[in-house]
Amino acid sequence: MIAAEPRRILVLTGAAAPFSRTRSVAELVCRETAGVGSTSVLRDLAEYALPLLHVEAENSSGLADLRAQAERADGMIWVTPCYHGSYSGILKICLDHLRADALRGKPVGVVAVGASLTAVQASEHLRAVARALGCVTAPTQAVVVDDSGTWGKGMDPGAHQRITRMIVELHALAGATDLLRQSAATADALPAAEHS
Ligand SMILES: Cc1cc2nc3c(=O)[nH]c(=O)nc-3n(C[C@H](O)[C@H](O)[C@H](O)COP(=O)(O)O)c2cc1C
Repeated sequence: MIAAEPRRILVLTGAAAPFSRTRSVAELVCRETAGVGSTSVLRDLAEYALPLLHVEAENSSGLADLRAQAERADGMIWVTPCYHGSYSGILKICLDHLRADALRGKPVGVVAVGASLTAVQASEHLRAVARALGCVTAPTQAVVVDDSGTWGKGMDPGAHQRITRMIVELHALAGATDLLRQSAATADALPAAEHS
C-alpha cells in the first residue's frame, strides 16, 4: 500500500538530442509519479543552458531556481541517456552545481536509457554520485534499452515495470528518510567539538 502523503519529486533529465528518448522516458516517470500520489517537477536540462561550474555561476537565475527546487524536493529522479558508457555531461554539470548539504538523506531514483546494456554502467555511475552526495538510492535499477530500433512500438514492459517499482520505492523512502534528513541538518548545525 502506498502512503497517502504526497511527496515532491524533482525529475532531472539531461539529453539535448532532438526527439530525445530520454525526455520521453522522463515524461513517463512524471506520469507514474502522479500515479503513486506524488507531485513532480520536470527539469529538462536541455531547455536552458546551465553555466559551467565556477563560470558566472552565481549570476544565473536558472541555477538559483534549480537549487531551490532541489532543496524543496522530498526526492529526485535522475533520467539520463548513456553516452560512451556513462551518464550525460549536462547532467553532471547540473549535479556539480547542487549543494550536498541540501541533498543529504534525500532519496534518489535513477533511470538510464541506452542502445545496449552498457546503459547499466550509466546507472551505476549515477548511483555512486548519489551516494557521494549522501543521498539514499532506491533499490530498483531501471534501465531502458532500445537495441533494435523499435522505440516507436513502445517501451519494453519489463523496463516500464521496473520504473514503476522504483517510483513506489522512492515514494516510501521519502517518508522513511524524513528523520534522517532532520538529523543530518541537526548534526551540521552542531559545533565541531560535539561531533567527537
Ligand atoms: C555520443 C553517444 C554515445 C553513446 N554511447 C552509448 C553507450 O556507451 N552505450 C549505449 O548503450 N548507448 C550509447 N549511445 C546511444 C544512446 O544512449 C541512445 O541512443 C539513447 O537512446 C540516447 O537517448 P536520447 O534519444 O535521449 O539521445 C550513445 C549515443 C551517443 C550520441
